[in-house]
Amino acid sequence: MDRIVVRGGTRLAGEVTVSGSKNSALALMCAALLAEGETRLRNVPRLRDIEAMLDLLRALGARAEWAGDHEMCIDGSSISNPEAPYELVRKMRASFMVLGPLLARFGSARVSEPGGCAIGVRPIDQHLKGLRALGAKVRLDHGVVEATTSGLCGGRVVFDLNTVNGTQNVMMASVLASGETVLENAAREPEVVELADVLSRMGADVRGAGGDRITIRGVSALRGIEHQVSGDRIEAGTLLCAGLATRGDVTVTGIDTSSLESTLDKLQEAGATLTTEPSRVRAEVGGGRLCEVQAVTAPFPGFPTDMQAQLMALVCTAEGSSVITERVFENRFMHVPELQRMGADISLAGRAAHVRGVPRLGGAPVMATDLRASAGLIVAALAAEGDTTVNRVYHIDRGYERIEEKLRGLGAEIRREG
Ligand code: EPU
Repeated sequence: MDRIVVRGGTRLAGEVTVSGSKNSALALMCAALLAEGETRLRNVPRLRDIEAMLDLLRALGARAEWAGDHEMCIDGSSISNPEAPYELVRKMRASFMVLGPLLARFGSARVSEPGGCAIGVRPIDQHLKGLRALGAKVRLDHGVVEATTSGLCGGRVVFDLNTVNGTQNVMMASVLASGETVLENAAREPEVVELADVLSRMGADVRGAGGDRITIRGVSALRGIEHQVSGDRIEAGTLLCAGLATRGDVTVTGIDTSSLESTLDKLQEAGATLTTEPSRVRAEVGGGRLCEVQAVTAPFPGFPTDMQAQLMALVCTAEGSSVITERVFENRFMHVPELQRMGADISLAGRAAHVRGVPRLGGAPVMATDLRASAGLIVAALAAEGDTTVNRVYHIDRGYERIEEKLRGLGAEIRREG
């Protein structure tokens, strides 16, 4: 099994371009099923999660293939089997987002329940509530969600909590429904806005995305389009943390920096000096010292849960005591024992992690437990003295394309071992 070995202590410097957004691309691949004809996505990252979604779309009977290095074609017209099996859905929860499009386009779908995952229970009740509000008959049968309709109708959905994929799933179901759908307490993440933009360009009538109330007027059909996927805001934040952890000077490009505001705020609070332009940001440590932060994860525009582990890794060597509170997922501190193995001084009290800065971390063998936890461990490893071996790197390959090459380009001593 692959592992990544990092020799820490090298100051990172230079410029790096982020890949396309994993989470946007996953939703857009599902949206492509709604169109009559082919959808072409560009700037799609080469990741394990993207391959898993391709496998699923093919299993449904769609034509879904790479058409270039980062370009992909999807045509759902040939779908013959609107059924997403457990083996594919269990690998990646985002697979559940095929439910809305399949139901809208084919009137029925069977999608396995995704189940829990490493970062928490992660129910799907809000997805199902939304689909029922559009008139779908939804039942759970031995771990399989079976949804049918003789034609979805617009409805009003008030989400009980902010759910990104839930908002996206129900939005995709509603674009072909008759009449008007209103989604209240909708998620405001940039990936929701990008999906709404793409659906609109396909011919849908979606308004208000980016706010907490989205209104959709159903249309009779959508057409395939071409789209360039936005840069990955979490990869951008991760690379900035990596640079700062080494007291370096890193510029990331290929990203809409307005989607990074809450992350940049926290980096500034931690002592970073930032130079921000619309599609690039440079971060260096003013005076060579990092300081404590107080951060609470929250839905967009709050500080993203997907950046929590990386920020924690960064402040492990900051002066003072930081408090990082996880409010989105209930079990997203699995990197803590691994950071402690590297010498971090962290104590957990419920949903809060108290991090007392230490002068330096030391390399150690550590275990990646989920995607963002592994990113945090790499950030810590780059700052640590000596060698760190990060095991189970397949987690990293789910969401970071060629991470070691990108970091090497910034001067890191990092290699993959088979
Ligand atoms: N939730 C429910 N019921 C639902 C749906 C969600 O209780 O029906 C709860 C979840 O258990 C969680 C909270 O609501 O506590 C928020 O979950 P959300 O539904 O927003 O998460 P998601 O849509 O499944 C996406 C990203 C995650 C990211 C979260 C939060 C994708 C493919 N995944 O997941 O990304 O952490 O939003 O921003 O878009 C990652 O990339 O590493 C990752 C985990």
